Amino acid sequence: MLKLSNAAYQIDGQPMFKVLDQVQKLEREGKKILHFELGEPDFDTPTNIVDVGIESLRNGDTHYTNSMGLFELRESVAETTLKSRGFKPDLSQVLITPGANAIIYYAIRCIVNEGEEVIVPDPGFPTYFSAIKFCGAKAIPVPLREKNKHQLKFDDLKKLITEKTKLIIINSPSNPTGSVIAKDDISKIYELCHEKGIFILSDEIYSRSVFKDQGEFYSPSMIDHCNNNVLILNGFSKAFAMTGWRIGVAIGPQHLIKKMGLLLQTINSCVPPFIQKAAIEAINGDQSSVRMMTEEYSERRKVLVNGLNSIDGIRCHMPSGSIYAFPNVSGLGMTGEEFVDLMLNNAGIALLPGSSFGKNADDFVRICYVNSIKNIQLALSKMKETLKNRG
Ligand SMILES: Cc1ncc(COP(=O)(O)O)c(C=O)c1O
Repeated sequence: MLKLSNAAYQIDGQPMFKVLDQVQKLEREGKKILHFELGEPDFDTPTNIVDVGIESLRNGDTHYTNSMGLFELRESVAETTLKSRGFKPDLSQVLITPGANAIIYYAIRCIVNEGEEVIVPDPGFPTYFSAIKFCGAKAIPVPLREKNKHQLKFDDLKKLITEKTKLIIINSPSNPTGSVIAKDDISKIYELCHEKGIFILSDEIYSRSVFKDQGEFYSPSMIDHCNNNVLILNGFSKAFAMTGWRIGVAIGPQHLIKKMGLLLQTINSCVPPFIQKAAIEAINGDQSSVRMMTEEYSERRKVLVNGLNSIDGIRCHMPSGSIYAFPNVSGLGMTGEEFVDLMLNNAGIALLPGSSFGKNADDFVRICYVNSIKNIQLALSKMKETLKNRG
């Protein structure tokens, strides 16, 4: 086998796709599986969005487009940002990307040099770790502690800043914990980063999924207006159930967005225009499906978390946002990985172990509540049965 580049050996990818392979193999063998592993809404994309996409294809929107994104979509993004975050970015600060995941790579590539440090939430979204390693930088994990309801705390983060810190990634609401960072912590993180010249990548892909009964969404961009050191990552996958469409949005300082745009142009050329037209409808069209989905997630979360807490040996905080619950299973005398294996093989329930998200979560399991209340109740009773039979 011919040797590849050093960087190629540093790519880890996303563990959830490996689990999906394993689960699909079991399904091909005829096993029935209840799915709670992928962060993939079970709702279909709302029909008004699909209709615009199809119409656009029929109208011949099948050519290359401006690599920064369609003017109309960037204008809609700027207007929505004004409503949701209180400032209107210039269009030169807005980049439309093929999925939000790509923004993580573009940002790290354009901000961080080899050997420099990036502070990342641990547990956190696996792409952060994989992209940092691939770029030859060093991930410095900031622990999200169970005793703090897994919220990222300024005091934990402050201690980790060194001369080499170039970027801090925050993610609120969080994948995998469902926690929302407090406004006060975000303000302090921003002030410190501003003073020390450190970029903040604020992953806000779940910003539309903060539950009314649990705090409020806040972004460092509300202070910085993305003029100096704050870059917002946002996307359509979660809020509009558009995971397969592959479209995201970055808003940031002009000089950074310009370079990220050139990187996108080099790798992807542009995002297909019919996808962008559908995204305009997602933002500007009827929002009742978005509200319905968030309300449904909120109900499912309560059924799931109350059910988990009724099992001896499992404890779980009520998530404040996103689509994930993150129970601690150590009271069962098992690691998260052992629990996941037991549930997949004996109960036909697919979950992800906390260990897929960093070094601080071996006792935990991520459960994505993108399944009906009926199936959540079924999974809870299967869990109880399997744990009872284990003796
Ligand atoms: C925290 C976080 N950021 C970014 C993404 C990427 O989203 P997408 O590439 O589907 O737009 C995800 C997807 O699961 C996520 O959970």
